[in-house]
Amino acid sequence: MRYITFALAKGRLAKKAMEMLERIGITCEEMKDENTRKLIFVNEELKFRFFLAKASDVPTYVEYGAADIGIVGKDTILEEGRDLYEVYDLGVGKCRMCVCGPESARALLGGHELIRVASKYPHIAKDYFYNVKHQTVEIIKLNGSVELAPIVGLSEVIVDIVETGTTLRENGLTVLEEVCDLSARMVVNQVSMKMENARITEIIDKMRALDK
Ligand code: PRP
Repeated sequence: MRYITFALAKGRLAKKAMEMLERIGITCEEMKDENTRKLIFVNEELKFRFFLAKASDVPTYVEYGAADIGIVGKDTILEEGRDLYEVYDLGVGKCRMCVCGPESARALLGGHELIRVASKYPHIAKDYFYNVKHQTVEIIKLNGSVELAPIVGLSEVIVDIVETGTTLRENGLTVLEEVCDLSARMVVNQVSMKMENARITEIIDKMRALDK
């Protein structure tokens, strides 16, 4: 039997994902050591391998089959646009992708103003403005603390993740429009889905049964 390899997005999500996998009997003791610098963890008995990767790299590993299964946020899945099967919504890490800015920027949305939109998610931002709103905008890619952009005048609005809304509130910004709901998803390599169908289907079925 060959290994089934899981790629998990580093951070909070990985911890929650491992807890869920543990509840369906997929465990990895090695991975619980928080001080380890090891990159790959193995459950020899069950023939599972696990590795942590930067969230934006998880869809890449899965598309190329370096991992059979990935667990990563829907934001990253949409932004990366890889060929994958999205098979399960873990229901954790729930948040929303939104267009945000000062209340005064609301008037600039939906018209023909060529506004600037800052985002860590340029593809999602572009898709939303061009294909949903049919508004031509200039997208500016940032890598973090995106809320700064409208405050210092880099852009009129941002497209970013809103979870509690605290970051917006504390910076005098607000949700202007919702783009989509987000949460952690399980994705599967398209070839693995065929070649390892029995084992992967069993994992998906057990995950789905957790909800009830
Ligand atoms: C995310 C996101 C928002 C914030 C939203 O940033 O980009 O800034 O969290 O959460 P809230 O609605 O609960 O305030 P993250 O902390 O991941 O870091 P970043 O600013 O470097 O992107």
